[in-house]
Amino acid sequence: MTQFDEKSITPAVIARMTECQDPRFRQVMTSLITHLHDFIRDVKLTEEEWINAIMFLTDVGKTCTEKRQEFILLSDTLGVSILVITLNHPPEGDTTDSTVLGPYYWEGAPELPLGADLGIGVKGDPTYYSGRVLDETGKPIAGALLDIWSGDGEGTYDMQMEGDVGMKARGRIRTDDQGNYSFWSIRPENYPVPSDGPVGIMLRKMGRHPMRPGHIHMIVSAPKHHAVTTHLFAAQSKYLDSDAVFGVKDSLVTPFQHHDAGTAPDGSTRSGPYYTVNYDFRLRRA
Ligand SMILES: [Fe+2]
Repeated sequence: MTQFDEKSITPAVIARMTECQDPRFRQVMTSLITHLHDFIRDVKLTEEEWINAIMFLTDVGKTCTEKRQEFILLSDTLGVSILVITLNHPPEGDTTDSTVLGPYYWEGAPELPLGADLGIGVKGDPTYYSGRVLDETGKPIAGALLDIWSGDGEGTYDMQMEGDVGMKARGRIRTDDQGNYSFWSIRPENYPVPSDGPVGIMLRKMGRHPMRPGHIHMIVSAPKHHAVTTHLFAAQSKYLDSDAVFGVKDSLVTPFQHHDAGTAPDGSTRSGPYYTVNYDFRLRRA
């Protein structure tokens, strides 16, 4: 029989992996056990704190539904998501920066023609988004796909709306032969990440607000190129300096130009004020 003390327990747990056949898994678990044990020794975790942590993680799991991913929210608010993304997608030249996927991605948004309005039936200021998708040398990419989603003009996502409203403010748009894209949607507003669950309790206890600056999400992809999961942030938005999920990158902050009623860039007549955004995405070759 071997008895362990507060130090010898760590190598003993690691040593139990001698039969592990997956070297990468072994490396990750060795580091995880080392840091986890060091953390517990460092803060001298009490039994009450340990059981609280277990109950907290249990609540995080129980809060997850088909439409709500509290673990992604936990990862986002602890800066883990953006750390993983930044490690795996370091900035490279002028290529578009990545940021968090967030908890509201819904696969299978309808593919819509260029210039389509994703904002039909969605509250908010109409906004015309246009630009190009380019490769790293500046050459336009024809047939690149933008998978786009956002909340409404009050910062509420379709998944959070009462009842089964289906997809709102979502769509997929392909670039034309010259790499141009365009679509209408709404101007995204600041919004709080869900704070009525365990992650909200954690944020309040940490003395943090749950707000994100106004942004629209997109995954931009094209054959033979690396896809980029990113946002466009509204330059006038509050909370750019204190995004609850640490997702802001300077290169993704872009002005939303205000216009009075009149003829929009796509030739349509707008009876009320609207905004325009022009932004070029650049993808790295695979
Ligand atoms: Fe979002």
